[in-house]
Amino acid sequence: MRHFLTLGDLSKEDILQILDLAIEIKDCFLQNRPTPHRMENKILAMIFEKNSTRTRVSFEAGIYQLGGMGMFLSSKDIQLGRGEPIRDTARAIGSMVDMVMLRTYAQERLQEFAQYSPVPVINGLSDLFHPAQLLTDYLTMIECGIYLTDRKYSSPHIGIPKVAYIGDGNNMANSWLMLASKLGFELRIASPEGYMPNANILAQALEFAQTSGAIIHLSHSPQEAIKDANVVTTDTWISMGQEDEKEMRQKAFQNYCIDDKLMALADKNAIFLHCFPAYRGQEVSENVLEGSQSRVFKEAQNRLHTQKGIMVWLHKNR
Ligand code: CP
Ligand code: NVA
Repeated sequence: MRHFLTLGDLSKEDILQILDLAIEIKDCFLQNRPTPHRMENKILAMIFEKNSTRTRVSFEAGIYQLGGMGMFLSSKDIQLGRGEPIRDTARAIGSMVDMVMLRTYAQERLQEFAQYSPVPVINGLSDLFHPAQLLTDYLTMIECGIYLTDRKYSSPHIGIPKVAYIGDGNNMANSWLMLASKLGFELRIASPEGYMPNANILAQALEFAQTSGAIIHLSHSPQEAIKDANVVTTDTWISMGQEDEKEMRQKAFQNYCIDDKLMALADKNAIFLHCFPAYRGQEVSENVLEGSQSRVFKEAQNRLHTQKGIMVWLHKNR
């Protein structure tokens, strides 16, 4: 049985298999054909310890479209929120459903849940990673012709992608490190001092990069990171749970807004991605978010298809 906790646990082939499934399932969906990959009558429990719009809707709609059903569980309502040990919740819920998605504050909680769960567990975002979002972002890149040559996709490819992540070294930055280092593309991260990605995750990424050939570059310069990039991306400066640090963070990140001037330094065909929720005038300007290079709503919708790929893949490997 496999879990989906971090891309660091998956091989490059695992990642490409999930994307192949997502592409096939999306194709059927767009052509109004039933997908051959069904999860008839399977139940996905979705536990949220934090807010969510896209993750909740895409997992719930996704499992329903595969023939199963989603069960939304807010930690405020279940005993987990009153301190029930995670290993008890994992064994109880896992004995009644077929898969569990968990959005939580700590990656260790996901690890512990998975350790005790008799069914596959999916990371729906933790303090350290957001792997379902990253596979979605790569699917969106593929559809825009920005991908490695591992598979023959219908869009013409442009060679080794150069991705610029400008902003907080948070769960999204860590996840970009995992994706780039597993697949083997170029990733430039620009973050202010004190807000660089997690050092252990960076070390892990550099190790994976030795096999994949990924090029990883970290700096404090958005201008250096974005130069000729094919993909430009960012995330909120204030992640869920960091609300008390708002003022300090807004000051630290003031030169990291992706606006037209910065975007002009990227490749002229570059796309802009953002996982959402986005804060206009902070990490990204209104013009860039709503502009012609932005693919953010394609990206948001792709959550639905990518996660169907993840669920089907876990179901096949159980
Ligand atoms: N990107 C993302 O995970 O969005 P939600 O927080 O709305 O689920
Ligand atoms: N870094 C953000 C991502 C939200 C999808 C957070 O953790 O709040």
